[in-house]
Amino acid sequence: MKEAVLVLIKPDALQKSLTGNILSRISSTDLEIIGAKVVKVSRELAEAHYAHLKDKPFFEDVIDYICGNQHGKHKVIALVYYGENAVSQLRTLAGATNPEEADPTTIRGAYGRITTKGVYENVIHVSDSVESAEREIKMWFSPDELIVDLYPSRTMVEGTRVIRIWE
Ligand code: PPS
Repeated sequence: MKEAVLVLIKPDALQKSLTGNILSRISSTDLEIIGAKVVKVSRELAEAHYAHLKDKPFFEDVIDYICGNQHGKHKVIALVYYGENAVSQLRTLAGATNPEEADPTTIRGAYGRITTKGVYENVIHVSDSVESAEREIKMWFSPDELIVDLYPSRTMVEGTRVIRIWE
């Protein structure tokens, strides 16, 4: 069964010019990119993405990090990968969430670090399940920005434009 996964190349990776290395590691899989864009992350989007961490002591730092306030790069690259076992393939390539625990051959093990404040700068985000992927992809992408119809959507007219929105 084919799965879709959200990958975010985070501001620390952009500051370190790691995009090429990361995309090249992922291209060792047979997964296909079905959506891609550069996003200036708003606080609202960051809070929605990390809503499950609202009560964690590092919540504010995680929001600050993904918005780019720590790295002077106010952007992330958002990608949707699609293919067989996409979640497990990409989670394996990414490595453990804690970059100190990640195997050095993985993306986070090779390029991540923990700040002196204890915040993980782990280079990329990868959805941790098919269910999280659906929630996250709907948050970061509109149906028109993906070349595969992943989830039910409907067409609506906005002014002179015909657009599709998630149902
Ligand atoms: S949980 O509840 O801690 O298991 O949450 P999880 O779903 O694993 O996501 C944690 C995200 O917060 C980022 N982060 C940290 N997690 C734990 N401890 C510390 N100190 C910490 N600092 C940051 C972590 O990188 C996860 O974000 P993503 O984008 O998924 O990597």
